[in-house]
Amino acid sequence: MAVPLNAIVLAAGQGKRMRSALPKVLHPLAGQPLVAHVLAAVRALAPRAIAVVVGYGADAVRAALAADDLVFALQDPPQGTGDATRVALDVLPSDGVTLVTIGDIPLIPVEALSRVAAAAAQGQLAVLTARVADPAGLGRIVRDDAGRVRAIVEERDANDAERGIAEINTGVLAAPTALLRDWVGRLTPDNSQGEYYLTDVVALACADGVPVVAELASDARDIAGINDRVQLAAVERIVRERRAEALMRDGVTLADPARIDVRGHLRCGVDVTIDVGCIFEGDVTLADGVRIGPYCVLRNVTLGIATVVEAYSHLVDAEVGSGCRIGPYARLRPATALGADVHIGNFVEVKASTLGAGSKANHLAYIGDTTMGAGVNFGAGSITANYDGVAKHGTTIGDRASIGSNCVLVAPVVVGAGATIGAGSVIAQEAPAGKLTVARPRQTTIEGWQRPAKSTSRRS
Ligand code: UD1
Ligand code: CA
Repeated sequence: MAVPLNAIVLAAGQGKRMRSALPKVLHPLAGQPLVAHVLAAVRALAPRAIAVVVGYGADAVRAALAADDLVFALQDPPQGTGDATRVALDVLPSDGVTLVTIGDIPLIPVEALSRVAAAAAQGQLAVLTARVADPAGLGRIVRDDAGRVRAIVEERDANDAERGIAEINTGVLAAPTALLRDWVGRLTPDNSQGEYYLTDVVALACADGVPVVAELASDARDIAGINDRVQLAAVERIVRERRAEALMRDGVTLADPARIDVRGHLRCGVDVTIDVGCIFEGDVTLADGVRIGPYCVLRNVTLGIATVVEAYSHLVDAEVGSGCRIGPYARLRPATALGADVHIGNFVEVKASTLGAGSKANHLAYIGDTTMGAGVNFGAGSITANYDGVAKHGTTIGDRASIGSNCVLVAPVVVGAGATIGAGSVIAQEAPAGKLTVARPRQTTIEGWQRPAKSTSRRS
């Protein structure tokens, strides 16, 4: 039978080096809090219980992470990673194996966590280590002449020889829960920071004759810790590169893989082309042959086959059919649904509206709270006046209606199928189907009218 697994994520620190009011673990990486990335990796192991240790900004961290499968343990005041682990062990089952990870290593791979947990299930203390070019600021793995791990020494407490060690502690370890509880209870704050270091359990395990194994991370970039905004930006760059590479391998053309930000899930069909500077957030799905022009923002959007979004367009919570042309400079706001072959041109804003197949609003328009049929032409400068200062009202436009330029449709209002609305009309009552409705003053020409002239008798 498999050994039950508990997991602990340490997220109580302030992260002073971020110089921020926001707790470090809530700083976003690729659109998600740092610690959410760690939690996703932990969850992939399907532990029976997960404890998140909170302290600095505890309410904000709890609110950001709240989920049924998490228990929160409050560490107050924060007195080091060993102290944080003790607090978490108190709210977890006391049997099985417990995996501990710090909350600021967002790229930690599931495979590495899994190896450490498996090694601990053999009755040992397992520590995830890495060999790095620059170990500055990290805990060093001290081995004896036989190569066995004897201790972890924090940089501040290390001597010159220890500082020269390139193998470092990643902040992930696992052990049989009973042993870990015992060691954590015996930690002392005898170090330069006066903190209870989780890393000191290694020396305690050695003293107890419990084997300590180091599992080496396969890629040192995966265990990059984030302590300041420079490191945050560096890790963001790694995520950007990895996601861009995965997209290209899946058949997406990127104008420049260094200039795309995928901050959520982007799913693409074949032969999708994405120009520079685009940002994808939430869940975005691009069907085959979609082309996205430069500097577009798409959040929770689905685009149909061969739809084109031109430069500088902003699309949020929208569903767009196939063969559509959006932009440049278009804005689709939440609850927009466009049928096939719809054209939304420059400086056109659509909100909470449905547009049927082949409808067009090519220039300078606002369509809000509207149900529009198919084949409608919505002229330049026309708008739906959907707000009376208190409530929003709907507009209904039938199939093949043609709304001239610079019209105002004062909602609630209905424009019948095939109706034509003359340019410059203010439509506040139903415009019947199939007829021309014009609502503007008639043009008149005044015969015999003389423009006033300046007096020419200036001589004196
Ligand atoms: C820690 C390790 C170090 C390792 C490095 C890897 C210790 C003593 N040091 O150092 O060996 O090389 O990570 O990146 O473990 N936290 C709490 N409560 C506390 C203190 C910290 O929950 O009282 C949490 C923080 O929120 C953070 C994590 O623990 O998520 C690590 O804390 P941090 O102060 O960044 O540790 P490092 O100095 O980076
Ligand atoms: Ca850290």
